Amino acid sequence: MGKHQVLAAFVGLQWGDEGKGKLVEEEVFTAIEETGKRTWVGRYQGGANAGHTSFVRDKIGNLVKFDTHAAPSGLTTGAEIFIGPQVAFDAVRFLEELNKARTLFGYSGGIHISERTGVLFDYHKRLDGWQEDTGEKKVGTTRQGMGPFYMDNANRRTRFTFADYVSDRFPDRLKEILEAKRLEIGAAKIWTPTYLDELVALHDPIRKELKGCECRLEYRLREALNNGENIILEGAQGTLLDEDMGTLPDVTPSHLLAPHAFPSLGLPREKFMIIGVEKFYPTRVGSGYMPTLAEDDFGAETQKNAGEVGVTTGRKRRVGYPDWVIIKYAVMINDVDEIIITRIDNVQDREIKVCTAYDINCQIVGEVPLKLETAKPVYSDARYKWHLWDGPADLSDPLKVDKALASKRKEYVEKGFKGLPEGLREYLRSHDDYVGVPTGAISIGPARGELVAKGFKPERMGYRICLHEDDFEEKSD
Ligand code: IMP
Repeated sequence: MGKHQVLAAFVGLQWGDEGKGKLVEEEVFTAIEETGKRTWVGRYQGGANAGHTSFVRDKIGNLVKFDTHAAPSGLTTGAEIFIGPQVAFDAVRFLEELNKARTLFGYSGGIHISERTGVLFDYHKRLDGWQEDTGEKKVGTTRQGMGPFYMDNANRRTRFTFADYVSDRFPDRLKEILEAKRLEIGAAKIWTPTYLDELVALHDPIRKELKGCECRLEYRLREALNNGENIILEGAQGTLLDEDMGTLPDVTPSHLLAPHAFPSLGLPREKFMIIGVEKFYPTRVGSGYMPTLAEDDFGAETQKNAGEVGVTTGRKRRVGYPDWVIIKYAVMINDVDEIIITRIDNVQDREIKVCTAYDINCQIVGEVPLKLETAKPVYSDARYKWHLWDGPADLSDPLKVDKALASKRKEYVEKGFKGLPEGLREYLRSHDDYVGVPTGAISIGPARGELVAKGFKPERMGYRICLHEDDFEEKSD
């Protein structure tokens, strides 16, 4: 058994869809392989509004696409899965994803759901849709019930704990809550005389199947920590969608910053590495302003060639130029230790400009204001350009281009940062100087292992074991 213990929290640094799912899946897999230890992976907030895609090779080497919404990435491995108390737990979707993973990958790990976790029901989703359709202010939500769910949680009387869900109290508690919400679900035309019975019938088999998963999660995780086991926390959405610190009012109603995870799971922040996940270019779905929105061919082509379409909603994601003001802010409020940049392979042979300040009412500032729509991007004079490989421009279907690019990607992975084109290395150096936190790796493809690492100090136990130790000597990186 290896001596390392992997303790890491992954958080998105933009508006979500940064590629956390792929990195978490990879991290879980590597942690199991390299340490041989029991490995836990879990969600700490949000719900099935998230959409995490992993591309995993099957037994004969073909790439398989696997999406999760309610479950954390890692169902493709032998990890223990956990769900924290701040999650909006969609039991129906969770079980669907679990069963799919059992069939596809023979998943057989343990499932641990906090007795405190709130359960999300059909009426939350329908109320969310109703508010979007009839309300004056549209957020452009995923219609997965987040707003109504978190209001019920905060209201206390209407919080449906997982402990209640799996107990014999279930039908009585559901009746009580539906009565308390009668006016609201009546107005939204959700209520019917058979609604309660339908919900009970839908959930009865699911409750039976999940009954054994209820636990006092904070104690189980603390035991795992003390036993030297690996623990990986998977954030959902991205920092700019945080309910307090995001771009109000177009945010998701949960606390998604990584430091929020620790008290709710009973874990000590100082033992963990917080890994900020940054997509090379920011994207946004739903309502809300993005300062560097690329309305030129860079935006349109990247959207198309990178297949920037929401996993949960199928909506096109808007693409922007790199915005380092946002990244620096997200790094600060998440207390990020190290950054991983994703989607580098989707951009090449193009002059890239970078936003390094905002013009707010003719004042140049490097801070993110409450009203982001008042900020005009200011781009630095530097332009960056590189060529990675000759190959197809359209990478929107990773399954189609995998064979053409797999060996080129592997070459970059084997060489580490030293093997990257100079233009890209220059970009990374300027990025790290500006942001103040090192980029530890860049993702160069969608599959597990397609990650070019700079080299990690072995003593930084939170993340991975040194892959390219010799790179570390190179101060200029
Ligand atoms: P909600 O989380 O469904 O309430 O949506 C609130 C806002 O967050 C909308 O702009 C959504 O598009 C956005 N959002 C929610 N989940 C995700 C995600 O996983 N990725 C990107 N955007 C998201």
